[in-house]
Amino acid sequence: MKRVLLTGGHGFVASHLARALLDRGDAVTVLELAPPPLSGLALQGIESEVELIVSDLRDARHVGATVEASEFDTVFHLAAQTLVGPAMADPTPTFETNVRGTWTLLEACRRAEVPAVVVASSDKAYGPRDELPYREDMQLRPASPYEASKAAADAIALSYRPAYGLPVAVTRFANIYGGGDLNFSRLIPEAIAAVLDGRRPQIRSDGSPERDFLYVDDAVSAYLAVEHAVGAGGPGAGEAFNAGGETPHSVAEVLGTIAAVAGSGLDPEYQGTGNPAGEIDRQYVDSAKLRRLTGWSPAVTLRDGLIRTLDWYRDHPEVRP
Ligand SMILES: NC(=O)c1ccc[n+]([C@@H]2O[C@H](COP(=O)([O-])OP(=O)(O)OC[C@H]3O[C@@H](n4cnc5c(N)ncnc54)[C@H](O)[C@@H]3O)[C@@H](O)[C@H]2O)c1
Repeated sequence: MKRVLLTGGHGFVASHLARALLDRGDAVTVLELAPPPLSGLALQGIESEVELIVSDLRDARHVGATVEASEFDTVFHLAAQTLVGPAMADPTPTFETNVRGTWTLLEACRRAEVPAVVVASSDKAYGPRDELPYREDMQLRPASPYEASKAAADAIALSYRPAYGLPVAVTRFANIYGGGDLNFSRLIPEAIAAVLDGRRPQIRSDGSPERDFLYVDDAVSAYLAVEHAVGAGGPGAGEAFNAGGETPHSVAEVLGTIAAVAGSGLDPEYQGTGNPAGEIDRQYVDSAKLRRLTGWSPAVTLRDGLIRTLDWYRDHPEVRP
């Protein structure tokens, strides 16, 4: 049994990861802000199975005391301000949480000599590029506050390997989707909620931007693969890892698939020309490094993932806006 610290557990991806960690028999501690009205842990039905430490990541004293009080085998750091639009409108809270919060946690991990640390960066850290897919050896060139916050956290985390010998890796995963994402400003939750509620999806672009989509179960298996590669002197320490579906899909294509699997005839309402401000036009990742090093590969196609996601939101009308 491992003792695992997970930040951001009320959120979408971390709550799925928490469930997978409990399923493998781990003792899971979640460091998070006060529970929101709808917590991912509650939606997973595992609120009572994890130890919840209510703390702001930026509270260095509390975070340090939490990490140093327990001998964690692994720390997964997923907590972040994750929305691109609010980061663009007012970058300071995003930098505070995503950058200060990350170094605060890393400092605690360094002092406690945690044997495996996995930090969520993002494919957004690469910034807009003509050359695609993104590979891990490409320079990070963020061009908006959210991208810069993830690139800064990514660089700081990786520096802890050569500087302090901390076994830490960063994940640069593509757009993750699946049941339980309550961020309805994101494409897939908004589109699915709209078709289930019989209204036209409101889309902030013109449908042309291309993205790489990773089903949440595949993201969880990728996190576990990275953890395995980084711990116990593994080759993943000090490394970045992409994971994605590897095929880019346009926003319009994703909306078409959602409409087809939902049997909906509602046309999206495209509200933008091109790409929304602060967002990248085309992006997808090369996951060859993670595949090669760990044998990980995505198991769920976009169509199957969208069917599962649609089913989840149909079964959870209480979460829809
Ligand atoms: N969802 C995606 O498509 C995607 C893709 C690539 C990378 N990521 C990264 O994965 C991680 C998880 O993403 P998500 O979509 O599940 O996000 P989310 O917004 O659903 O969850 C983030 C969680 O972080 C917590 N948090 C925010 N500020 C905090 C603070 N100061 N102290 C403690 N906790 C705080 C929030 O309460 C929230 O529960 C993030 O780091 C994100 O950048 C997400």
